[in-house]
Amino acid sequence: MKMKKTLRLFAMLLTLALVAAACGDDDGETTTTTSGDAAPTTAAAMTDEVEVFSWWTGGGEAAGLDEMIKIFASTDPDIEFINSAVAGGAGTNARAVLASRLQANDPPDSWQGHAGQELIGTYVAADQIEPLNFLYDQEGWLDVMPDTLIPLISNDGNIYSVPVNIHRANVLWANPTVLSDAGIDMPTSLADFFTALETLKTGGMDAPLAMGEQWTSLHLFETIMLASMGPSDWNGLWDGSVGWDSAAVTQGLEDFATALSYTNSDSSALSWQDAGQLVLEGTSAFNVMGDWQEGFFRELGMAPQTDYVWAAVPGTDGNFQFLSDSFVLAKNAPHRDAAIAWLTVAGSNQGQDAFNPVKGSIPARNDADRSLYGEYLLSAMDDWASDTVVGSLTHGVVANDSWKSEIDTAVGLFLVNGEVATLQTALVAAQAASG
Ligand code: GAL
Repeated sequence: MKMKKTLRLFAMLLTLALVAAACGDDDGETTTTTSGDAAPTTAAAMTDEVEVFSWWTGGGEAAGLDEMIKIFASTDPDIEFINSAVAGGAGTNARAVLASRLQANDPPDSWQGHAGQELIGTYVAADQIEPLNFLYDQEGWLDVMPDTLIPLISNDGNIYSVPVNIHRANVLWANPTVLSDAGIDMPTSLADFFTALETLKTGGMDAPLAMGEQWTSLHLFETIMLASMGPSDWNGLWDGSVGWDSAAVTQGLEDFATALSYTNSDSSALSWQDAGQLVLEGTSAFNVMGDWQEGFFRELGMAPQTDYVWAAVPGTDGNFQFLSDSFVLAKNAPHRDAAIAWLTVAGSNQGQDAFNPVKGSIPARNDADRSLYGEYLLSAMDDWASDTVVGSLTHGVVANDSWKSEIDTAVGLFLVNGEVATLQTALVAAQAASG
């Protein structure tokens, strides 16, 4: 009798387990893990959430993402958007969190990754994302995405991400009142820039060039190197045709050291938004930052030409040092169909024209509705179309993660010791080890 009861209980438990397995995972969804470039399977059941990972949590960035989420809510009202953004400019924290999730086989459905070496050298190399050729075919994206971008998100004929924007890295932001009070015009060459900084400093401004935490110094580094070396030498650093031991690099590093000598001593404690604020309030005159800074300024209600002005980083006019935020589809995404729905919006005209005017970037697509964009972004669109385009180091375009991180470490040490020769030796070693 007792034995019979135990058997019945066992049979019941077994049935329950089988039913649960047939229903899929614990939120009741059936997931599909088709890989390769196949279209989404029709066998997949309706999914009802998508987890999207980024580092857009505040200061102009979250607001931009929110606009795209609104479009997604209107096109896919049955799918809940799980926003798993992790705070920290340039993804410094987020990318560490993402790496440990990927390591633990717990990927978000879709995450933010920069077009270029960051995408190809990290996620594609580790086989962590799915090719999206089927979506490009379905949505006709090859006709509207710039030719510059496609090779940077492709490998072996497969396209791996959906670019949502183009950001410009080499922008100098300035406080027009501070400049006019000091009788200074926006500088156009490095020599003029350093003269302006010196004038402001001798006039009593402690730190005329506002800077934030370490990645923002790498950002300054890349823009000053471009100004000092010019675009073809800058490109040559990444394809091996220009040596890191060259005189042009030494000069670039000297110029970087000069720029740093005008920055605030508390930079390591400040975010990029804090550094931007120093300009708005007139504590500093200038800040070198990507054009997400404008998204932040506008979110604060600041007006272009009145509260802030801009120019290409002195010495880089005619060059557009770019980066592009893109979203990927995780291999084995827990909610694959919902992730594809999200990516479809991310690559759409409607999604990009909602996101970019707020984010402070121009759309990756070339069919934007220009009437939605402000003065700065219109100028960026024109420059993108006519300038020499070069890639950003800090934001994933030109170097893989390990090379970038060695450069970052070397620049971090330089902030402390200020030794140009030591920095150059470390940069030569970084290229030999990871370039
Ligand atoms: C960049 C990213 C931008 C912006 C910036 C500051 O890496 O591409 O979209 O978010 O970091 O956080």
